[in-house]
Amino acid sequence: MSLSGKKIILGITGGIAAYKAVLLLRLLKKNDCDVTVVMTGEAEKFITPLTLQALSGKPVLRDIFSDAEHNGIIHISTASEADLVVIAPATANTIAKIRAGIADNLLTSIVLATRAKIMLAPAMNRVMWENSATQENIEVLRNRGFIISGPVSGFQACGDNGTGRMKEPQEIFNDIMAVLQGPSVPPEHERLLAGKKIVITAGPTVEPLDPIRFISNRSSGKMGYAIAEAAVAMGAETILVSGPVQISPPAGVKFISVNTAQEMHDAVMNGISDADVFIGTAAVADFRAASVSPVKIKKSAQNEELDIRLIQNPDILSRVGHSEQRPSVVAGFAAETDKLETYAIKKLKDKNADIIFGNDVSDKTIGFNSDQNEITVFSKDGRIIPLPKSSKKELGFSVLRLIAEALK
Ligand SMILES: Cc1cc2nc3c(=O)[nH]c(=O)nc-3n(C[C@H](O)[C@H](O)[C@H](O)COP(=O)(O)O)c2cc1C
Repeated sequence: MSLSGKKIILGITGGIAAYKAVLLLRLLKKNDCDVTVVMTGEAEKFITPLTLQALSGKPVLRDIFSDAEHNGIIHISTASEADLVVIAPATANTIAKIRAGIADNLLTSIVLATRAKIMLAPAMNRVMWENSATQENIEVLRNRGFIISGPVSGFQACGDNGTGRMKEPQEIFNDIMAVLQGPSVPPEHERLLAGKKIVITAGPTVEPLDPIRFISNRSSGKMGYAIAEAAVAMGAETILVSGPVQISPPAGVKFISVNTAQEMHDAVMNGISDADVFIGTAAVADFRAASVSPVKIKKSAQNEELDIRLIQNPDILSRVGHSEQRPSVVAGFAAETDKLETYAIKKLKDKNADIIFGNDVSDKTIGFNSDQNEITVFSKDGRIIPLPKSSKKELGFSVLRLIAEALK
């Protein structure tokens, strides 16, 4: 499906990432979308309406009281015509106003007055993002059906490094395509998980040694992200708890960014209380440093060798499997370089899991970092099912079909 002729309202608010909205506008226009730009007064302090007007080929809407053409009810007419409202960047302030139903400018009025889907691409300093007010606002809006695209982690304009960066324009554009085209779900999988809540872990964990060094692994997160994307498409409420990776979270997931195994454990334990399914795909570090040096560890003539004492991390899959709040289906991945079947069957028992997805990571064409995978499914009832080599995206659907069967 093309986006040609789709009516999109591009809302721009007063954040430093406002300049990136220009690139998003260009992408939308290149794909023949009919884009109306609506700016808040604060956004105008970051970029000029003139640039956006020239690129959109239309006047930029800014003032709820200024437009006579629409008989003075510009927010109603604009809102009713839209296929999608995208606010990029969405400031903490505008997100809070939308949550509260405040309509004190043209953009927030349109949000209240539209029946179209609304996508928010939050962008802010990481402390603003982590603030419980912002987190609560996002949670409420997600539950109201808003699509939250990002943010991602990385370097921020203020010099911080963490979660709060707006997704890149191309990634937001991809999310817009996914929303307007509808989920590309194989028909036999559609809505198979509607009403179910799934918690998925993905990526590596990062265990610090000092403020600069850490122990981690090569997990790319691709398998877990593909399962999360499929889960959203199949109608599940999806929580994705992820260590640091180079890919963006799929649109529609509730995204929780973590670093260490302990943080991942805590986020999972919080998330599973009313979940139906847990799927552990993360490559969780088995060990962490017994003590983390508060300052950079220096080499000197006195320490030609350095001993680092490691202690075990919590075993997340086992904790979930044995938890009083155990979801109905608990599944995990076993990435092994040898004796896959032996280890996978042992893992099923030890962790009290229902399904183990076995992964031979000695084969470089599959597993870590590859876009393809080949999985052998070990189920509690003794079945061993090979899933042939295919893209991680296709396998995401196959994995969830097995999960849906186990839920019956
Ligand atoms: C230089 C500068 C950069 C800012 N960047 C952001 C930002 O990235 N995200 C954010 O939420 N607020 C940011 N703010 C604060 C917002 O501009 C402020 O909350 C404003 O009221 C937002 O208005 P609006 O949501 O109506 O556009 C920034 C402020 C300044 C002065």
